[in-house]
Amino acid sequence: MTNRFLVVGGLLLAALSGLPLLSTGALSQSKPADAAETAEDTTEEALSREDMSAAPFPPGRYAGVVKQVCTECHMGQVVTDLRYNHEEAVRYYKVMVGSDVESEQAKQVIEYLSTTLGR
Ligand code: HEC
Repeated sequence: MTNRFLVVGGLLLAALSGLPLLSTGALSQSKPADAAETAEDTTEEALSREDMSAAPFPPGRYAGVVKQVCTECHMGQVVTDLRYNHEEAVRYYKVMVGSDVESEQAKQVIEYLSTTLGR
């Protein structure tokens, strides 16, 4: 986990210093209007490699974590077929993973589901 944050931090630094590492422009296309605030956060940040290429999960912050957590028992498509508001994201995490929804992992999964896969 610590390593991951270092990677994200590194990419962020690189992006801030003007390196054309990633183009996140495409991310803003499928954002619902009511998720505008968090969507903006995502587009302003450089995404780690695993968050960019977590197919079938669309690129977004914590996509890599969600892929890891949510494909343990079924295909990713089962997850990406749906759209989630915050409440639904919390509920799915609770039902599927069954652990503390206040944990760092839970927060990341819930953020991804309710923004990148948000309705
Ligand atoms: C411990 C195993 C397990 C994990 C981990 C898991 N799921 Fe599931 N999931 C299932 C099973 C079993 C089904 C199919 C049976 C059912 O629908 O209740 C399912 C079905 C689904 C469905 C289909 C629609 C529905 O309501 O049944 C969605 C959406 C879903 N999971 C989302 C998720 C998400 C999001 C995650 C990650 C946070 C996740 N799952 C992680 C076991 C799991």
